[in-house]
Amino acid sequence: MRLSLRFIIPLLIVLEVIAYAVVPLVDRLMTQWSIKDLDLRSKAIASAAATSLFDGTNNYSVPKARMQNILNRLMEDERLYALGFCNDKNALTYRTDKLPGEVSCQDSVTQESEFKSETLELSKGPLHVSYYPLKGSGGVMVGEMILVHDMSFVRTRSASTKQYIMYFFIFMGAIIAMITVIVAQLSWRGWLSGTRALLRGEGLLRPLAPGSAPELRPIAQDLRKLIRDLETERRFRDDSQSDWTPRTLKELLHKELAGDEVIVVANREPYLHVREGHRIEVQTPASGVVTALEPIMRACSGVWIAHGSGSADREVVDTHDHIQIPPDHPRYTLRRLWLTETEENGYYYGFSNEGLWPLCHIAHVRPIFRSSDWEAYQKVNEKFARAVVEEAKTKDPVILIQDYHFALLPRLLRQRLPKATIIMFWHIPWPNPEAFGICPWTKEILAGLLGSSILGFHTRFHCNNFLDTVERFLECRIDREHSTVSFRGERTTVNRYPISIEFPGRLQRQAKSVEDARKAIRTRYDLPPDHLLGIGVDRFDYTKGIAEKFLAVERLLELHPEWVGHFTFLQIAAPSRIRIDQYQHFQLEVRELRDRINQQFRTGTYEPIILQMSHHEPADVLEHYRAADLCFVGSLHDGMNLVAKEFVAARDDEQGVLILSQFTGASRDLPEALIVNPYYTDECAAALHDALTMPAAEQRDRMRNMRGILHDFNTYRWAGRMLIDAARVRARNRFLDRVAMYDLLSSS
Ligand code: F6P
Repeated sequence: MRLSLRFIIPLLIVLEVIAYAVVPLVDRLMTQWSIKDLDLRSKAIASAAATSLFDGTNNYSVPKARMQNILNRLMEDERLYALGFCNDKNALTYRTDKLPGEVSCQDSVTQESEFKSETLELSKGPLHVSYYPLKGSGGVMVGEMILVHDMSFVRTRSASTKQYIMYFFIFMGAIIAMITVIVAQLSWRGWLSGTRALLRGEGLLRPLAPGSAPELRPIAQDLRKLIRDLETERRFRDDSQSDWTPRTLKELLHKELAGDEVIVVANREPYLHVREGHRIEVQTPASGVVTALEPIMRACSGVWIAHGSGSADREVVDTHDHIQIPPDHPRYTLRRLWLTETEENGYYYGFSNEGLWPLCHIAHVRPIFRSSDWEAYQKVNEKFARAVVEEAKTKDPVILIQDYHFALLPRLLRQRLPKATIIMFWHIPWPNPEAFGICPWTKEILAGLLGSSILGFHTRFHCNNFLDTVERFLECRIDREHSTVSFRGERTTVNRYPISIEFPGRLQRQAKSVEDARKAIRTRYDLPPDHLLGIGVDRFDYTKGIAEKFLAVERLLELHPEWVGHFTFLQIAAPSRIRIDQYQHFQLEVRELRDRINQQFRTGTYEPIILQMSHHEPADVLEHYRAADLCFVGSLHDGMNLVAKEFVAARDDEQGVLILSQFTGASRDLPEALIVNPYYTDECAAALHDALTMPAAEQRDRMRNMRGILHDFNTYRWAGRMLIDAARVRARNRFLDRVAMYDLLSSS
């Protein structure tokens, strides 16, 4: 509207000026035309009168009464004001009453005299006075007739004409203004939608649609360049930043997302409070999410919203269910959310871990989908959405949502906090469309996830699987080159962000030396000082390949009996999801397998497999890593697997060998590990043997390279890359907001 007014007001002024210039011109023309008209009328009247008056001689001898009679009849013409008659001596012989004194016979009327007229401005108004020569036979002048017309009608006509002209210009102005506004609105809307399309990336890759505003083409080019520059700058920033520390991340957060708050949503809390008799103990759960995110929250502050699942969790929170953590040195807030047993069973054990977990992992466990679980899942996602809104201090927080427990949360939050930057990270694999299609609520899950601004996976392969699934099940637009999905008018960037760990690790500084750790652990498990030790650290989960690792140990001892009595594989298996039947069966199966193998190779106190089915705190796990000669990660399928990275991070002595399943995301990041197929027992046994016999120099080379990778790609960089992308999305959204504001202003 403002734009239109800017155009219309000058237009109206111009029209006004034109109108004022045109009016006098038209006025003059009107007057001239009226005078001509009066001249013709006068001639016609005079000529008709002359015929009645003229007697055929060259003398006018009309009786006075008749003359008066004729003049009176002529005077019936309403425009005729007065009449006069002059004889050939220029004497006014007859006249009507109103003939003004200022009008008299002409002095020099001759045979050549012609009709004449003039305008007299008298006090009573303008008068048109015409003189008509009366000629007898042979053209002899016999007299002159004076006709006086009242010209006030010309004034009236002129005034009306002026009025009509003004009306005409006003009407024209209105029509032009209206057309201008309509055209301006249409083209502004076209421009706006074109610009929006450009900002969404449409038209940047392809030429703009035919019919779209041609003036947008240069803008499209500029935007294309701008986006390329931003991309290059982003890549450059990401690549050039070799040291990713808590400080880098903090600075990035404040510079790129100035003063913005971070809210993390994860099912698992970073610290659990557990009642042990009269004491309350703090536990750090075995969780990749916690390992990766906790250092980020320490760096950035903010709020972590999680299910309060520790037995003493409720006892330590404040009235808002908040507690400041880490307990020893508080840096951020943990908001605990309480779930009923029914909710926990349906949402966590049921839909998340009996449904989505086996669905996404190729581990040959049949997923179970119950309607009641799905209902609980929806309800709990809603519950978390409400908690996020309660915790948000601004309209546009950065929300980091973790994992498959919250597939519906991005959309729920998009509805409640439309300006929020929602980063969803899917920590587990994403299968192909056929596999994912098994879920009865595939479409709802996809639509939920596409509420996020950024959706992250560990590998490109999982991103592609996701895009294929979306393509198969939803009506949307997928841009493969930029890896984006436009759905219901919103755009989600689907990207690969391989997760990592804190490097160098915080605990490392207080850790025992490798030598001391070796001694301590061997003493703890009653092993001789030079005993070779392999370590496995997992949640007790059927996807982790624990049974496959035991089978590989068995095969090693069969193929290389020289290791019997000299090598032990120690598996730490943190109890996990124990209410689920599958997990109970799996634990039983693994225990039986351990017993069978141990029985087979037992000599004296020696047993080749130690299974530790208990929770171990991070510092304790670190000590195990440092004491081991090899670490075996045998996942049958894993999004990333941070145990592999933790082992490498723990080995600042550059010794120790990592055996890594090819089915983990980590195998792409750590190619210097001995990569194995956990289903192929002989290959795994050979890898164990290679690891146990690998020269120290080779161990050092491999370990050094892997540590280099961790140095460059630690968890701060993982989060940093997402935040840089989030900042880009926010900048783009802010720009779109401004465009929308113009839109609003112009239509108001
Ligand atoms: O691997 C998926 C995951 O959510 C991890 O992110 C986390 O380490 C693990 O599962 C934790 O499982 P839970 O919270 O069920 O014990």
